[in-house]
Amino acid sequence: MASNAATLREDGLGQTQRRDLWWVQPVAMAAAFIVFILYATYRGLVNTHFVYGHGTTVLPESAYFLSPFYSPLVTLPRWVPSWVCPAIFVMWMPAGFRLTCYYARRAYYRALFADPPACAVAEACKNNYKGERGFWLFQNLHRYFMYLAVLLVFLHVYHVVEACRWPAEGGGFRFGMSIGTLVLAVDLLFLALYVFSCHSLRHLIGGRLDCFRGSSGESRYSVWKCCSALNEHHGKYFWLSLFTVGFADFYIWMVSSGQFQDFRLF
Ligand code: FES
Repeated sequence: MASNAATLREDGLGQTQRRDLWWVQPVAMAAAFIVFILYATYRGLVNTHFVYGHGTTVLPESAYFLSPFYSPLVTLPRWVPSWVCPAIFVMWMPAGFRLTCYYARRAYYRALFADPPACAVAEACKNNYKGERGFWLFQNLHRYFMYLAVLLVFLHVYHVVEACRWPAEGGGFRFGMSIGTLVLAVDLLFLALYVFSCHSLRHLIGGRLDCFRGSSGESRYSVWKCCSALNEHHGKYFWLSLFTVGFADFYIWMVSSGQFQDFRLF
């Protein structure tokens, strides 16, 4: 590990006395961020193959499956041009939540801006750290995006319930599951773990308190302890939920375009 910070500041980008493979993590993260951003942008703008099941023209004999990128599905007025995609009216919520996430900030400042690339590794712009001021104040919006993200979790619960309602032969619906249902359920699980381990949520539950008093204080303390336990793994949940939400969209894209068949389990 480098011990002389002054020397590092004078060296060029990536200079360090570290002997480990410190660059692997930022390079892998940069690749993951770029792939996801490109994929999500394409899928958010493509305006096709994001839904199938009853009530739609694709696989109407199936339960209803909606891509998480398009949730909640916005019905646009007729006068809106057909190339305008409903996803752009909803994707800003999860995008804003992830962009301003405390963990994600650390990850993309390092991976995408190399500022700095890693601990004890020299950055390109020396001595320019001024904190998150000026333009970067928008990061303070995270606590407000958090409220929207909690709503999104409940919306995803609704989508999983819909993915369990299969049209019955005599009319009505019956309980059923397919691989698609499991894909949406796993996406919901990791989204919930990511949102409920949020630093802002933890502060909302237990912040600005000297002690937890009374019976309501005890319940609040229990919830805060759960949130704190989840919070230890917040970074892992960030990546897992990023992968599962992308995979859930990809699965629905493939099934609704006829590339995959959604196998019904029961
Ligand atoms: Fe990461 Fe809130 S701190 S989601």
